[in-house]
Amino acid sequence: MIISEPSRVSASLSRQRCIEPGCRASYGINERLYVCSQCGGLLDLELGEEQVGDAKSLRSLWRERLRSFDVPDRSGVWRFRELLPFGNTPPIVSLGEGNTPIYDAPRSAGYCGLDALQLKHQGCNPTGSFKDTGMTTAVTQARLLGVRLLVCASTGNTSASLAAYAARAGLLCAIMVPAGQVSHAKLAQSLDYGAKVLEIEGNFDDCMRVMRELAQDESIYLVNSINPFRIEGQKTVAAELAEQLDWQEPDNLVVPGGNLGNSSALGKGFYELLKLGLIDRMPRITIVQAAGAAPFAKLFSEHERELTIEDPSLDIVNLDHPHTLASAIKIGAPVSWKKAWRALRWTGGQVVTVNEQEIADAKAIIGRDGIGCEPASATTVAGIKKLVAEGAIKSYEHVVAVLTGHLLKDTDYVINYHSQQLSIPWEGVPENERRIVGQFSNPPVQVEASQSAIRKVLDVMPNDHEPHEHTS
Ligand code: F0G
Repeated sequence: MIISEPSRVSASLSRQRCIEPGCRASYGINERLYVCSQCGGLLDLELGEEQVGDAKSLRSLWRERLRSFDVPDRSGVWRFRELLPFGNTPPIVSLGEGNTPIYDAPRSAGYCGLDALQLKHQGCNPTGSFKDTGMTTAVTQARLLGVRLLVCASTGNTSASLAAYAARAGLLCAIMVPAGQVSHAKLAQSLDYGAKVLEIEGNFDDCMRVMRELAQDESIYLVNSINPFRIEGQKTVAAELAEQLDWQEPDNLVVPGGNLGNSSALGKGFYELLKLGLIDRMPRITIVQAAGAAPFAKLFSEHERELTIEDPSLDIVNLDHPHTLASAIKIGAPVSWKKAWRALRWTGGQVVTVNEQEIADAKAIIGRDGIGCEPASATTVAGIKKLVAEGAIKSYEHVVAVLTGHLLKDTDYVINYHSQQLSIPWEGVPENERRIVGQFSNPPVQVEASQSAIRKVLDVMPNDHEPHEHTS
């Protein structure tokens, strides 16, 4: 069946607009901006709405494209191109991102005290993290702008993703990471994809500051999530998820929070779906931060009551020395916090923190569902468990957690957990609180290469696959 395409969004009708309610300055789509030149506010992309098409024909069109072999149709981002601020034939740079699975996770559900739990696995993207869904649009925009060099600051995943997409586009790229704080797997990706890797003494926030300064140069393009074209690609996950749930949005959508681009993007994505009549109500967005890197959670706990106000005069207090073993979200100065706050306002959302022990155990439980994720992603299940215990999420509610990165992104963490070697290295933690107990650890067993020795080990294996808590 051939379905006639609703007319596409016209690039000339789309605008960049300042999100600050008191400003709302607007700019053309091809102005190379990251923030509003009048007030410094974050920028949103606004679609020429009347062009998008009605809900019914969009749903059929997006479904139909799953049968196509064309590159834009195969991409789980460009399949939803009616939602994107590009013209009819952008020079798409794609690695076949998106179209990631959503899994039922019964063991994780039981661990959290829920009847059911679904995990949307964004780690199943081409470079192993959700960043690819935004990188395809940002690097496509870079092509349109004709920039010379692409750059980003990163805790490892953005850089791996940028390195891959820049390579596909044949564009130069340089990434900046905190030396010694990025997992080997992520660093290896950037090296192999040919990025110039710059390591600095400092943390992610220092990298971000330096790269923002560097990107003042017209020929250099910054593709961190402050770049609104990144957010556009990432927001399509809302459409993909809603489609996978047959357009019945969940009660709760739970995401980790670092620089806060992902939560911002999902908020915008669902908000636009609602305006287009594709869904009937917003899911409640819950953002989970690691306790040692939680400036946004602090802001929320102090100002939750102001969530209903459109323009509360809030300011986040950044952390100079964020800490967490979930290195992907070791961030003290999240650039997109205002957009994330807006996402909370739109969805009646909330922010919670979880500690290192909770993250580590949640990760092992997710693994027992046969689903591997990196530590930052496991904050979601840890956060859900906490919220269910507090009664903030009811056991019967429909909950989806977004796993943002793949298990193989950080195998040192996994091996250390399972061999009871995981510990907190930063200062200020009492010696007796440093050790993380692998409560669900599954250590390798050294065994003699004989039938009898092997049988001895196998005979004492439990009869089920349920995670068993260690008491020692
Ligand atoms: N999960 C993973 C696996 C991440 O890599 C990140 C961010 C986040 C969650 C948090 O997402 O920043 O949108 O709130 N990683 C960035 C990077 C900072 O450089 O790879 P956010």
